[in-house]
Amino acid sequence: MTAWRPGERRADSASMLRVNQAGEYGATRIYAGQLAVLRANCAEAKLISRMAAQEQRHLQRFDRMVAERGVRPTALQPLWNVAGFALGAATALMSPEAALACTDAVETEIDRHYSNQLEELGDDDAELASDIAEFRTEELEHRDTAREAGASRAFGYPLLTAAIRAGCKVAIELSKRV
Ligand SMILES: [Fe+2]
Ligand SMILES: [Fe+2]
Repeated sequence: MTAWRPGERRADSASMLRVNQAGEYGATRIYAGQLAVLRANCAEAKLISRMAAQEQRHLQRFDRMVAERGVRPTALQPLWNVAGFALGAATALMSPEAALACTDAVETEIDRHYSNQLEELGDDDAELASDIAEFRTEELEHRDTAREAGASRAFGYPLLTAAIRAGCKVAIELSKRV
């Protein structure tokens, strides 16, 4: 990392990496919970497996950057482990459409989050910014895939997605700090 000079605005890359690593980890746990419940050969499980593989790649990339830069990972990882899996399993138990609505909601918040980060980074930290931009494109694909596959047919879609989005916002704020 280049030296910080007084008066220079620098985005807080360490906090960004911490929350992004936590988020991608949470995403892998959500999809693991869904895949544990959904029938392996149903159409939704196939879509979700493909998205889960991409989340794994996002996570590995942030894991590596966290290690290379000596960033402190979130202390809340054990919580995201359980909460992510539970959210995935619970939505999949409701219905395959509810599982897709979960992806729809989560990826909507992740898109907002990554867009905010890109704006905050500006020309700072090109390495981190290029990964965020690449992953954001894939998160948007996940959201659109879920919508095209019928997320909005889930029972109670407006309430369900609003609740999940609110949960994501809390998780994001916590993981920036803790
Ligand atoms: Fe991701
Ligand atoms: Fe995603």
